[in-house]
Amino acid sequence: MSESTPRRFAFPREGFTMLAPMQDITTFPFMQLLAKRGAPDLFVTEFLRVNATSQIDDSVAECAEKTLAATGSPLLVQLIGEDVPALVRIADAVLSRYAGSVAGIDINLGCPMPKIFRKNVGGGLLRDLPKVEEILSALRKICSDHGKLFTVKCRLGFDDTTPFPRLLEIIRENRADLVAVHGRTVRGLYRSPVDYAAIADAVKKSSCPVAANGEISSVAKARGVLAQTRCAGLMCGRHAVRNPWIFRQLREMFAGTPPHEIFVPKLGDVFDYIRELGNCVSEETVSEARVAARMKKFLNFIGTGVDAEGAFLHAVRRAESPTEIFRISEKFLLAGTLAETPFPPEPFPALCARPNCE
Ligand SMILES: Cc1cc2nc3c(=O)[nH]c(=O)nc-3n(C[C@H](O)[C@H](O)[C@H](O)COP(=O)(O)O)c2cc1C
Repeated sequence: MSESTPRRFAFPREGFTMLAPMQDITTFPFMQLLAKRGAPDLFVTEFLRVNATSQIDDSVAECAEKTLAATGSPLLVQLIGEDVPALVRIADAVLSRYAGSVAGIDINLGCPMPKIFRKNVGGGLLRDLPKVEEILSALRKICSDHGKLFTVKCRLGFDDTTPFPRLLEIIRENRADLVAVHGRTVRGLYRSPVDYAAIADAVKKSSCPVAANGEISSVAKARGVLAQTRCAGLMCGRHAVRNPWIFRQLREMFAGTPPHEIFVPKLGDVFDYIRELGNCVSEETVSEARVAARMKKFLNFIGTGVDAEGAFLHAVRRAESPTEIFRISEKFLLAGTLAETPFPPEPFPALCARPNCE
C-alpha cells in the first residue's frame, strides 16, 4: 500500500461518541455495518500488539482507509506494548503509511487479560507509572511530528484506584488529545460496578476531552453519566454490539431531540442486523460451523436484549450453522407481530451475568 497524502483530523470536543475497540469484533465489516445505522464520531481499531520484532499489520491499518471512505468517521489505531522504541517505530510507520486516513494513535492502558498484563503491557502498565510516562512522552512526540492525534484509553488502576491521580497527571503533562476512561480497575474485569465518580474526577483534572466508558447502555444511561461526570464524550462497546443504533440515538440526544422522538429500533430491524452480521463474518473458505461460531460472538450481546427468559440466547448458543441461527432469529424476532415490537433499550440484567456476556 502506498503512502497517502497527510491529512489532519479533528473530532467534536463536546458531545462526541466513540466505538470502543474490541478484539475480533471491531473489524472493518462491523464498523461499516454499524455506520449504516449511525456512525460514531471516532472509531478505534482493536489493539495492535507491538514488540521489538513486530511489523505493521496491514489488515488493521488498511481498515482506516476503508473506514474513513465508507463511514466518514476517522479512526485511531490502538497500540499495546511497553517497548518504547518499538512503539515509536510502529506509530511512525502507521502514521507515514496511512497519513491520509489514520487520525492518530491510541495507547492501551487497560487490557485485563492475564496473558497480556503479565507481560507488563495493557492494564499491566498501571503497575509501572514511570514506564507509562516514558511511553506517553515518546508517543506524544511522534504523533505531534506527524500532526496527528495522540489519545489514551485507560482503566483506573490495577488492583485499586491508587495510581489514578498520578496517571491523570501524566496524561495531562504529555498533552494527550483525548482520554477514554473505562471506570473499572484491571481486577474489576468487565463486571465490577463502574466508578463514574472517578470519571468525573478525571474530567475535572484533565486538560483534554474525556470520554466516559463502561456500561453506557442506552440514552437514559448516557444522560445520567453525562450529568454525573460532565464528560465531553461517550465510548460504547458491548452495548453498541447489542444495539447498533446507539450512536444515532446518542447523536439525537446531543442534538436536543425530545426523548419520545429518539429513534427506537424494532425487533424486525434486529433481524436484518443479524442477517447482515452473517454476511459480515462469512468467507467462501470458512465452514458453516466456523461462521456460526463467529456470529455467536455478536449474538451473545444481542441476545441479552431479545427476551427476558434468555430463550433466544439459549437457542442460538446451540446452533451449528448460520441457517439455524436465522431460523431461530425468525422465530424470536419476526413471527406474528414481533417484527413491529420495539427492541428494549436496555439488556435484561439477569442475562448479563456471564463475564463480558462473551
Ligand atoms: C470482546 C472484547 C474485546 C475487547 N478488546 C479491546 C481492545 O482491543 N482494546 C481495548 O482498549 N479495549 C478492549 N476491550 C474493552 C472495551 O473497549 C471497553 O473498554 C469495555 O468493554 C467497557 O465498555 P462497554 O461497557 O461499553 O463494553 C474489549 C472488550 C471486549 C468485551
